[in-house]
Amino acid sequence: METQLLKGREVVSQINVELRTKISLLKKKGVVPGLAAILIGSDPASKVYINSKENAFKKLNCYTQTFLFNEDADDDEIISLIKKLNKNDKFHGILIQLPLPGKMAVKKILHTVEPSKDVDGFHPYNLGLLLDGDPNFIPCTPNGIIEILKFYKIDTLGKHAVIVGRSNIVGKPMFALLSQNFKMGNSTVTICHTKTKNLKEITLKADILIAAVGVPNLINGSMVKKGVDIIDVGINRVSDNSIKKYKLVGDVFTEDVIGIANSVTPVPGGVGPLTICMLIHNTVKAALNFSSTRGSTG
Ligand code: GUN
Repeated sequence: METQLLKGREVVSQINVELRTKISLLKKKGVVPGLAAILIGSDPASKVYINSKENAFKKLNCYTQTFLFNEDADDDEIISLIKKLNKNDKFHGILIQLPLPGKMAVKKILHTVEPSKDVDGFHPYNLGLLLDGDPNFIPCTPNGIIEILKFYKIDTLGKHAVIVGRSNIVGKPMFALLSQNFKMGNSTVTICHTKTKNLKEITLKADILIAAVGVPNLINGSMVKKGVDIIDVGINRVSDNSIKKYKLVGDVFTEDVIGIANSVTPVPGGVGPLTICMLIHNTVKAALNFSSTRGSTG
């Protein structure tokens, strides 16, 4: 079987056409979509994400500012900045890059973001709307996965979707999207996690397999059914002899599933570009909401 590589950039190019139109419409009203990103500590992967976000926002003529804090920053310091950003009309979206350093009160910090600026969709209010079937901001990676499935015409109706990973960022919202009576939903969904017994028995039953656990090459060819569509969310650094001394691999052993799967997202270049694209989509949506309720900043 020939396995198709589901390339994220092709999907992004199509979505960007629509985004550019909305952005220029906002510009005419004197509104430039703006994102405040908060980065705490020095996690190398987080720095890469933040740089990519900055570049993508600039490319689409959107505004972004990153607020940097040391590892030992105080929760209250962050909370007081978020409260200020909540009131600052220059920023339509606020993002707190995860993971936060271990000692920090993650929930307290995330819950301080005003739901109308919660472009990550992590606030319980927005997660509640998603579960209620009437979402406002959908978390970026799961939303990006839906866009990939839509673009490559991978139908979800009646399929058995298996999600490996139950994080708030991917697994749980992905379940909410695929299980509900949405156009790109109506799947029968199984969620697997660290306590799941016989993972292979379950992954072998998947028509659509979504791997989002952060374990390099966890899913190999013996664990997947012929014709499965695979979405690999993992971006893991593994040591090698290159100049960088590492390479990026997914949660799926890609070479091993080639020839078995109907399709698979590559790492890098699969889901990653969509996460950032969906962040811009949500920020533009927040700016449009702002512009229609409060008028121009000009
Ligand atoms: N870390 C990994 N993925 C994400 C994401 O989608 N949003 C934020 N804020 N942090 C992340």
